[in-house]
This record gives sequence, C-alpha cells and structure tokens, in this order.
Amino acid sequence: MLSFEDTAEPIRVPAPPTTGSAPAGEPAAAGGRVRAADKRIINGTTDVNQLVPFKYKWAWEKYLAGCANHWMPQEINMSRDIALWKNPNGLTDDERKIVQRNLGFFVTADSLAANNIVLGTYRHITAPECRQFLLRQAFEEAIHTHAYQYIVESLDLDEGEIFNAYNEVPSIRAKDEFLLPFIDAIADPNFKTGTPEADQTLLRSLIAFACLMEGLFFYVGFTQILALGRQNKMTGAAEQYMYILRDESMHCNFGIDLINTIKLENPHLWTAEFREEIKEMFLKAVDLEYAYAEDTMPRGVLGLNASMFKSYLRFIANRRCQQIGLEALFPHEENPFPWMAEMIDLKKERNFFETRVIEYQTGGALNWE
Ligand SMILES: [Fe+2]
Ligand SMILES: [Fe+2]
Repeated sequence: MLSFEDTAEPIRVPAPPTTGSAPAGEPAAAGGRVRAADKRIINGTTDVNQLVPFKYKWAWEKYLAGCANHWMPQEINMSRDIALWKNPNGLTDDERKIVQRNLGFFVTADSLAANNIVLGTYRHITAPECRQFLLRQAFEEAIHTHAYQYIVESLDLDEGEIFNAYNEVPSIRAKDEFLLPFIDAIADPNFKTGTPEADQTLLRSLIAFACLMEGLFFYVGFTQILALGRQNKMTGAAEQYMYILRDESMHCNFGIDLINTIKLENPHLWTAEFREEIKEMFLKAVDLEYAYAEDTMPRGVLGLNASMFKSYLRFIANRRCQQIGLEALFPHEENPFPWMAEMIDLKKERNFFETRVIEYQTGGALNWE
C-alpha cells in the first residue's frame, strides 16, 4: 500500500474535480490555491475538499456549536415514563393520543430530513464549511430518529402502528406529501444546479426544509410533549424532545443563513414571482400543521387547545418569513407559548426534568441510578 513515506518525490495531486453539482470548470484560481473570496455556496468552482480558508465562518461556528451540544438518547432515564405509561390511571386518553400521534409523525420525519441532506442538499452545496455542518446535521437527524425509536421501545408501543402512521394517519400523511416533492426534486440524480430555474428549485427545497419542516412542522409536536413535561408527565420523553428542539433550532438557523447567503450571491433568483410562490408555500404549511394540531387535540388538553396553535403557527410563520426577508404573513400575531422560547435556549448542562442517568456509557449497557 502506498503511503506518503514510501515516495521519494512529493505526490502531485491533479487539479481536483468539483464534486458538487456545479458545472465542471476551471478552479477559480486555476492551478493555484483556493482563495476564500472565490468560494460560493452554490455553483462554486473552488475545491470542495479544502475546508480552509474559511469564507462562511457562521457555518463553521454552527458546526462547532452542534458538536458542543452532542447528546445521545440513552443518556436519559425513561423509567418514570415507563411507570406512568403502564399505570392505567397515569395519563388520560387524550394525553396518550398526543404521545402516539407525536411519535407517529416524528419516527419518520427525521429520516426524511436525513435523506434530504444526504441524497439531496449536500451534493449541491459547494462551500466545504457548509458541507461540514450538513455532515454533522445528518448525524443529528440519525440521533433524533434513534431517540424516537428509543421512546417507542421504552414504552413498548405498537411499532407497526407508530412507524406506519405516516402512511395511515391522514394529518401526518398530508404533511409528508407536502414535503416529499421538495426532496425528490433535488435528490433526482439528473438534477443539477446552474440555471436560474434549477437554482430556484434548490432554494425552494431549502426553504421548505429549514423554514417549514424544521421551522414549523415540528412545533405543534414539540410544544405538546414539552407541555406534558411541564406538568411532570413523560419527563424522559420531554427531555429528549428538548435536546431535539435545541438541535432543530440550530438546523433551522443554519438553513436560514444558507438561504440568505444564496440570495445575496444570486439576487436574480429572488424574483417577485418566486417570493409569491414561497408565501403560498408558507400558507399551505400553516394549514397543514394546524390540521395536525386539530387531529392530535380534538379537545383541550394540558391547558392547550388547537386554536392556541393557530396563533402560535402564525406567529412562527411570521418569524420565518422575516428571517428570509419576506413580510410577515399574519401581522400582529402574539406568541401564546412564551415558555417555549426558554426551552429553545436550553443549555446543555441543565438537567431540566432531572432525568439524566448518573452513569452514561457510550455504546454500552445503561446503569440507571
Ligand atoms: Fe431532527
Ligand atoms: Fe433537523
């Protein structure tokens, strides 16, 4: 096997091909070194294998923050949740429905998110520091799927029912059917960026994922489970959701930075017609998430009711619109759940529901206190 030490002469590395979807061309500084100024988020021609020199420091900083927030599902003690779930008087039917519907959406949602990154987004992004974040994000999506599976297994729920909910429960199916075309468009092996139409297709998919999936479709479910936790119910599941929420808010913020930088570098993509189309997508997503809220909460439960979520979803949609430079769709909407902001700002060290296992072994058996 050849190693660097085996060669008397320095190995000459040929000009590396661009492994993004950008049209293969001469590197910006042909034959020379990568210059930060030549990097582009999409359709770049600099070497994607060279992380530095950094241009998009925000992406690298978010990658470091993601690593600093690393967690694993087995760190969280589920014994109180298990006892509560098995106790016939532990939860009301409405509370049980919330847990089951939640898991019904989330057990597959994060697989969709992971596949969207790995099979779609990643290869179209030509800035290596952004790719570095996406690699971390893809693993976090795997951790999230693991967390949901771990809750299903801990509670001994009907796996067939939970994992098929995205095919069988209309309010969940409708959300996934909304998302799938955005994944399919950029995961198509024949799809390449480099024309205004194709670049808009990518931008549309990035907005659908960051602003509408991670930034909106997760919020009814997160709020419901965290509301249970605040009432000292299902605290292990609630703690897992808190860590997931923290990760997702980072994904959402990264996606928004990515979108805004693509807009800055390619202002011709942000046409009035395109902006109108994005607004329609937002309106549709709010309707779908509200239908999901009604389906999961046919009656008021935990001090929550579906109509409070109408305000909350509109409030979040406004925020997402403004974050990507669109006007608020629902002016003057108030946040009915200000406590959610505290949850999003969770610090890693904080053991919110006091569920953390004392002795945590990676890849080994659990020893609960
Ligand atoms: Fe996730
Ligand atoms: Fe995510």
